[in-house]
Amino acid sequence: MMSLLVDAIAHSPAKAVININILRQIEKDLDIDEKISVLFLIIEDYANAFRDIFDLFQKEQKTENSYIIVDYVKKYPENWEDKILEALCILNNREVIRKLRTSFEELDKHYVPNCNSYSKNINIVAKCLYKLCESLNENEQKQLLSYIKSDNSNYELLLDNIDYLELHMLYWMQITYITISKNEKHNMEKLLKHLKKFEDLKIISMDLEKFENRSNVVDTCGNVGTNDKNCLHPISPREPFFTEKNNNKMQFINNGLCIIINQMYFEKEYKTRFGTNTDRNNLSDTFKSFGFKIKIFENLKKKEMLEKIKNISKDYGNKYDCLFLCILSHGYKGGVIASDEKEVSLEAIEKAVCCIELKDVIKIIIIQACQGKTRGSINNCLTTDGLSDFSIMELEDIRQFRKFLIFMSTIQGFVSVRHEDEGSWFIQEICKILKTYGNHLPFIECVRKIIASMQEKNGEIEGVQIVQLPEIRIDRLDADFQLRNIITPAL
Ligand SMILES: *[C@@H]1O[C@H](CO)[C@@H](O)[C@H](O)[C@H]1NC(C)=O
Ligand SMILES: *[C@@H]1O[C@H](CO)[C@@H](O)[C@H](O)[C@H]1NC(C)=O
Repeated sequence: MMSLLVDAIAHSPAKAVININILRQIEKDLDIDEKISVLFLIIEDYANAFRDIFDLFQKEQKTENSYIIVDYVKKYPENWEDKILEALCILNNREVIRKLRTSFEELDKHYVPNCNSYSKNINIVAKCLYKLCESLNENEQKQLLSYIKSDNSNYELLLDNIDYLELHMLYWMQITYITISKNEKHNMEKLLKHLKKFEDLKIISMDLEKFENRSNVVDTCGNVGTNDKNCLHPISPREPFFTEKNNNKMQFINNGLCIIINQMYFEKEYKTRFGTNTDRNNLSDTFKSFGFKIKIFENLKKKEMLEKIKNISKDYGNKYDCLFLCILSHGYKGGVIASDEKEVSLEAIEKAVCCIELKDVIKIIIIQACQGKTRGSINNCLTTDGLSDFSIMELEDIRQFRKFLIFMSTIQGFVSVRHEDEGSWFIQEICKILKTYGNHLPFIECVRKIIASMQEKNGEIEGVQIVQLPEIRIDRLDADFQLRNIITPAL
């Protein structure tokens, strides 16, 4: 699905921007855990990488001014430029990328580092595993390690006091506790079993689950460092996670619900968002023409906003096939601002939308908001919005996170442009493209058209040339869908 998005750029930017000398400069700016992450991402043969990478790690510890990434790519030069750039994008190390004198947006488009179901040169499972490492805090890492050690009695002593989870993962691969490979034969089962004990890891687990290939399970275990005790308990046969058949046929939307949260006025600090009513009206008209039921809320405080979203299934049932939730507001990096000027994180919105009652409904969130000024850290939002620490993840729980997509007016760290009469560039483009193509192109192709035509736009604000690039922040749709023009009788 994502591939066309990035195929827009035919040739890779990598060779033009990086060479060994530049890599050496970059390496100076990376700390040891970033170096390990980069190495982890660029590996070719995961099953046999542990020793190599561990040796490099030890060298780094012992030798001053060591260049272990340089060492590695000299040993495994194939396509290294591309892999390194992609890895740096995934690490989201913008400072380093800035030094490469290339635009992050360009790379972002090319490599789509946020998408967990797509990667260009890097092993997609490794990408997900890296994101797993990033999403665990110190205690959770310890917890996970202790679970896994309890499965493997002769756990590698070299790793006794090593905190870098990626190194442990490479070890897990070496002992085939997990396997990932180039040709889509992955086995993540034992790891997934433990991940289910972590409430916050539902989404990443689901992404990993997608790569699990039951027919290709590697049942050998412990050829290095473990003994066969672990194999005494055969893995119990397990139902596939999603028992409904993964229907890849195009779904046509006959009965949709569109909820618009229109934030125009704010309590004190934030400016009135003139033009947003044009956006609201246009969205409403557009979705009406596709037969959607429309609900509009104005100027909601944080608590009201999250409650309204959580109440969707209670207030409108779940007898529609598609839900569009459009949020028009100011924003900050990682979320939107409510009318009481409180921050509402994307995670909180996602959690509110993705409830079990709506598990079979396609859920699309459209967000028109800046993602610029960083206020507070995303981690703070996570805790204040109340993600609990530990609980068992139920099969039912995870299903609710599928069939879900977030389409944002801008990539993280950037502004969104709004015309004070004509509405925002993004929402206007959505309405225009959907009106023109929505009836005969799959939704995802419309999204691509919107992204493409946004790149043609530019304007000036206070003398500064402004451009804007929207993005798909999360894509967990398992099949494409298409809207239909439905003439609703006037009420
Ligand atoms: C959500 O539903 C609850 C329970 O019916 C109700 O008390 C509450 O007012 C609703 N919240 C909003 C913001 O509509
Ligand atoms: C939005 O609404 C205005 C006013 O009704 C209309 O002139 C304009 O064409 C609409 N734009 C889109 C993209 O639908």
